[in-house]
Amino acid sequence: MAWLLVFLLCLGQIGAQFPNISAPSEHRLQKSLLQLFLKLRQEKFYDILLVYGEDCVFHSLSRLLPVSTVLVTSGSTNFEWNFSSLSLILSCGFQAEMEENYRTLIKLQTNRRIIILQEDIQPENVCDFYSKKEQYNIAMVKENFDQHEVVYSCRFFQDPNYEEVTLFGEKPIFIEQFRNMQGAPIRTITDNLAPRSMVTQDPKTGEKKWIGFVANLLNNFGEKVNATMAMQVELAEVNGTVFFVNISKWTANDLLDIGMSIDTTWEMANFDTFTYPYLMCSYCFMVPLPDKVPYWDVFGMIIDIPVLAVLFVIFCIFSLLLIYIQQKSWRNLSLYSVLMNDMCLRGFLGQPFPFPRQSSKKLKLICLLLCFASLMVTTMYEAYLKSFLYSPPPEPMMHTFSDLEKSRYKLAMNWVEMEMLRFKDTHKLQKVSDDQIQMFEDYYQFVRLRESFDRNFIFPVNSIRWGTYNEQQKLFDHPIFYYSDDFCLSRYSILSFPIRRHLPYRDIFEEHILRQKEFGLLNHWIDHSFLDMLSLGLTPYTDFSDPEDGWAIDVDDLYWVWGLYGLALGISCVCFALEIMGSISFWSRLKTYRWRRATN
Ligand SMILES: *[C@@H]1O[C@H](CO)[C@@H](O)[C@H](O)[C@H]1NC(C)=O
Ligand SMILES: *[C@@H]1O[C@H](CO)[C@@H](O)[C@H](O)[C@H]1NC(C)=O
Ligand SMILES: *[C@@H]1O[C@H](CO)[C@@H](O)[C@H](O)[C@H]1NC(C)=O
Ligand SMILES: *[C@@H]1O[C@H](CO)[C@@H](O)[C@H](O)[C@H]1NC(C)=O
Ligand SMILES: *[C@@H]1O[C@H](CO)[C@@H](O)[C@H](O)[C@H]1NC(C)=O
Repeated sequence: MAWLLVFLLCLGQIGAQFPNISAPSEHRLQKSLLQLFLKLRQEKFYDILLVYGEDCVFHSLSRLLPVSTVLVTSGSTNFEWNFSSLSLILSCGFQAEMEENYRTLIKLQTNRRIIILQEDIQPENVCDFYSKKEQYNIAMVKENFDQHEVVYSCRFFQDPNYEEVTLFGEKPIFIEQFRNMQGAPIRTITDNLAPRSMVTQDPKTGEKKWIGFVANLLNNFGEKVNATMAMQVELAEVNGTVFFVNISKWTANDLLDIGMSIDTTWEMANFDTFTYPYLMCSYCFMVPLPDKVPYWDVFGMIIDIPVLAVLFVIFCIFSLLLIYIQQKSWRNLSLYSVLMNDMCLRGFLGQPFPFPRQSSKKLKLICLLLCFASLMVTTMYEAYLKSFLYSPPPEPMMHTFSDLEKSRYKLAMNWVEMEMLRFKDTHKLQKVSDDQIQMFEDYYQFVRLRESFDRNFIFPVNSIRWGTYNEQQKLFDHPIFYYSDDFCLSRYSILSFPIRRHLPYRDIFEEHILRQKEFGLLNHWIDHSFLDMLSLGLTPYTDFSDPEDGWAIDVDDLYWVWGLYGLALGISCVCFALEIMGSISFWSRLKTYRWRRATN
């Protein structure tokens, strides 16, 4: 309302100035134009007037309007200007605007333009001219505007390509032409990379359609603006494969309008050929789950040195107490009697031991404690061993690039990723030696290998694609890969659609992206990806895990146990033999025995 008041005041002021204006026709023109500007302001607010060209009626008019004005008399700004999208552009004549700076052009591409035309110039040609420059919000007034009060407004998707709008009519002067593109083509191409775009065929018409969280967004956009998707199949390689990096290149070279693919914008200095971020995801590795500890190692694992040390100390304490309470003195104390205490040894190994007769209360208490300790120790080790044998624990997971360096796995990389990592000043892969990296020239070969869940490799993968692999794993006997959240190529990858630099409906498309995301469609599509892939047969039902690597204990697994047992047996045999041989009394007794038998 305030603006309206200001305008009415302005009008009043002009009225007051009438007597001073030399040419009455010019002042009538000014008055009509002022009404036009009022109408434009009601249609859509503007806060800056940008006037291109030499002196004309717009210059004197701008002085009467309470809006900032920028005069570009030379017709070009030559440097990068940062005009807001609310600027209204006025041109003193056809081709008065000769903007050269392409970034200023991008910013001013969707702004509304009013051109004052000499009477002999056809609006049709002007519209053609501007549509070639990809500027579509054009309206013209002729120099005799005050007589007819007709505005010629370009209508790109109609025939004729302009419309005559009267100043006081109902029709709006500017419309959003790209809201209905009347079936105009949007040039695109897809990289067919599941799950973001996957081809399906209509069983009746045989028509190809693409689904997936990238394809869906684009298809919905086409439907929304009544456009058709024109697949530029001639750009693809002979066998029909398209690499997404090439799609970004083609859109940057104006061969495509919008690519049916998404690309990272790590390297980009600006977003000229990319849209508003569509997705954020991390870009880490899928790593084979570590093997389980082999059975023969489990026996070793349950022996924990600190625990053994504590047990040994307790053993010694019990032994000392028993000796003291039984003998009531330290006289018979020796290292041998402490370490080889019969009762204690048997007690700790969970074996029965002779309970001393006529024992005192203290001795009974100690024996009771010994029984309790024996129960604890044997139960603990048994539980430990059984649970480990039932499901052996996995070996440690990878957490850093140096773990990767030490592992037996190879890192499968595609040349694009390598290029991005080599030339950027990230030193992430420096720790990994070159012979541990296997390079794949062909991206699809790399993807096929990744899809086969080859357990000799570590694969870079983004979190969204990992989601589908993880779903697939749930169909297996047991999962075989995990996603390395700890070490990544990039924690925040921004993925955007590649678009043409001068795409005139960039704003509508970006708004569409935001709307679809806001509505939760993107999340829904991503969640649905795996089911789509299954139904299209892009994911096999094959179980890539090896279910036959059985869970039974073999004799081989007891190798260490048997070995140690044999060794101990051997040592005791030797000890026994030595004891027999070393005992002289035995030999003499044997001699007497023989002698007696001989004499008998
Ligand atoms: C109108 O013109 C007269 C002389 O022609 C001048 O003195 C006066 O200042 C002008 N008024 C305005 C509002 O410009
Ligand atoms: C407009 O913005 C760009 C980038 O932000 C800057 O380089 C340029 O100098 C700005 N132009 C003007 C005229 O301030
Ligand atoms: C969409 O475009 C077609 C031309 O391809 C046109 O016939 C149709 O009327 C348009 N639909 C709407 C809702 O404007
Ligand atoms: C796609 O890009 C790669 C690498 O830049 C190039 O070798 C290949 O020829 C490109 N394909 C097409 C069809 O341009
Ligand atoms: C497609 O052709 C390119 C060379 O033109 C080749 O490198 C690639 O392996 C082929 N892909 C398939 C799936 O045949």
